[in-house]
Amino acid sequence: MKNKIAFITGVTGQDGAYLSSLLLNKGYEVHGLMRRSSQFNTARLLELCQDPSADERLQLHYGDSTDSMNVFSLIEAIRPDEIYNLAAQSHVSVSFEMPVYTADVNALGTLRILEAVHRAGLTGRTRVYQASTSELFGKVAEVPQKETTPFHPRSPYGVAKLFGYWAVINYRESYQMFASNGILFNHESPYRGETFVTKKVTQAAAGIAYGLQEKVLLGNLDAKRDWGHARDYVEAMWRILQFDRPEDFIIATGEQHSVRELVEEAFRFIGTSIRWEGTGLNEVGIARVPRYQGGGAIPDRTDTEERVVVEISPEFFRPAEVETLLGDSSKARQLLGWEIKTTFQDLVREMMAYDCRVVEEALKR
Ligand code: NAP
Ligand code: GDD
Repeated sequence: MKNKIAFITGVTGQDGAYLSSLLLNKGYEVHGLMRRSSQFNTARLLELCQDPSADERLQLHYGDSTDSMNVFSLIEAIRPDEIYNLAAQSHVSVSFEMPVYTADVNALGTLRILEAVHRAGLTGRTRVYQASTSELFGKVAEVPQKETTPFHPRSPYGVAKLFGYWAVINYRESYQMFASNGILFNHESPYRGETFVTKKVTQAAAGIAYGLQEKVLLGNLDAKRDWGHARDYVEAMWRILQFDRPEDFIIATGEQHSVRELVEEAFRFIGTSIRWEGTGLNEVGIARVPRYQGGGAIPDRTDTEERVVVEISPEFFRPAEVETLLGDSSKARQLLGWEIKTTFQDLVREMMAYDCRVVEEALKR
């Protein structure tokens, strides 16, 4: 049987890297849309797709979700069996600074993919997965959130993704396209972008553990998220497109933790505990940790001190916040046989172990 062909936009991102690895292992030919950048941005992709046989089956194409001609010609030439539309300006906070660009990529970018499939005459062949998000629920109408929960996005990111969500449904209803939304709750990994809160915290805790970083500045410690592992979530994306009909699915763990608990879990890994003092912008997290030595010095990890390791900065608050997210993924579990393999504690431990290893390797150099 001929290998299936997949086209992944956002292939250089966290999910793009995990999904490429999954599909290559399943024997797919994988085509990825990659932005031109002044430096290589394929590090996570290459680290996760190390199988030498993957070389010929992974092809990267320069492109951009904002470029209709480029998206259309790639889809027309590749004629994929499956498209995973993961490309996005994915940072919620940044979307307040760049709302128009965010809408172009996240909303119109999705429409460009759907219309390209339609115009290229591939509606009967190509299945489309859209990276929808729990940010659609925003100011949540019920707890936990299900496929039937009304939406109330709270950022330009969420508003743009809502357009993408409905565009998928519209193409399904208008042209019988196999197009599905995965409404994924937050998912993280060692390959998470460095400005998302999980990675920011685990990188900081690793730096602090080796005396190389003094403290970390955070925003809303009381925001609650349903955090899963990206490896488990790309498996759900694939299952959504293998289902016998196009439908929309919530993908979540059903367990919720606050940013504060995330910080506590990360510092537990380095053998210390956080004591919170003060309130609001004056709240701080204090812990006994190796003395801060600044960059360059070889740290003596036995020389410890009690100091402030977490401070609050107004810079990291958003004009409108999503305070709480908790998903109910019963539908995906029942219809797709999808299941969570990684707990929150295991996720944080895996990220911490990875970030500590990176620091150790840097110190050896
Ligand atoms: P990510 O790490 O930020 O990756 C985003 C990808 O999109 C990167 O490859 C990025 O390229 C690419 N991209 C950005 N703008 C583009 C443009 N104009 N044209 C082409 N490519 C562009 O995000 P992720 O965590 O993997 O998330 C994947 C998708 O799932 C996103 O759509 C995100 O909104 C959605 N989602 C994520 C989560 C989550 O918790 N991770 C939850 C729900 C939904 P560069 O490498 O060049 O920047
Ligand atoms: N980034 C960041 N940095 N967030 C912080 C910080 C900080 O210093 N301090 C507190 N937070 C809070 C945010 O206010 C938010 O409530 C929560 O931590 C999570 O923030 P992010 O990690 O940036 O993720 P997000 O929930 O806004 O968005 C992510 O998940 C969505 C799914 O719900 C992104 O991956 C989106 O692309 C995705 O759709």
